[in-house]
Amino acid sequence: MKMFELIKDHIKDIKKIVFVTGAGISQESGIPTFRGKDGLWRNYDAMKLATIGAFYDNPKLVWEWYNERRKNIFGALPNLGHKAIAELEKFADVVVLTQNIDGLHQKAGSSEVLELHGSIIKIKCSVCNFKDEIMTEFSEIPPLCKCGNILRPDVVWFGESLPQDIWQKAIVFASQCDLMIIAGTSLVVSPANTLPIYAKQNNAVLIEINPENTEMSSEMDLVIRNTSATTLPKFVSMFKEN
Ligand code: APR
Repeated sequence: MKMFELIKDHIKDIKKIVFVTGAGISQESGIPTFRGKDGLWRNYDAMKLATIGAFYDNPKLVWEWYNERRKNIFGALPNLGHKAIAELEKFADVVVLTQNIDGLHQKAGSSEVLELHGSIIKIKCSVCNFKDEIMTEFSEIPPLCKCGNILRPDVVWFGESLPQDIWQKAIVFASQCDLMIIAGTSLVVSPANTLPIYAKQNNAVLIEINPENTEMSSEMDLVIRNTSATTLPKFVSMFKEN
């Protein structure tokens, strides 16, 4: 297990592991990432659709994007990366702080998952307090609430703040971990991209798993330039062997 040489000898001291995950961890489940060549949908820039302004300008278009994503995500299965994270609970306290809305960590069996950006299963009214979880397809879009206003996905868009209770818990977990593994995120979106700083303040070891360079690669103790489904099972094997 040469790749993890840095922590191999200290593995018994690792009690609390926090994962920070992003779109890349679900890429091998067939869910496109946002940035890079994958980030285009029908020639629209995904970044421009994931805003509160885009929704109010053209709710039908944004809903068409979400309808397609919902179909893809509901049919997707967790990959070896998600499964490895779930299996790791046998060896340490594991918390997953995810920017993903696809629910695949939970499907893989992870028991402590904080969804920083909401969930694609959830919808809410853009005006009243109505909330629900819906797996079926919407035949008419944009769907309407009983109150007559437009329903929206219960996700966090650019220009919106994170659910504060979840974010506060995420900071606490990040500040207390021994090891933080950052997998499949470009770390360009704030505030999720500040989580490694909290871990660093606790002298945690920081490992990045990403085939490409990110904004924070130079801050990491170890960078593994490979995919998460390839790398994470090897990481679990190291715990099994020790
Ligand atoms: N394994 C690991 N990493 C991968 C893989 C893979 N198989 N494939 C791609 N990646 C990496 C890419 O190199 C990239 O750095 O995953 C990262 C995906 O980055 P983004 O598309 O920017 O996704 P993310 O970081 O999750 O975006 C953050 O932006 O649009 C918003 O709310 C949305 O939660 C999202 C947030």
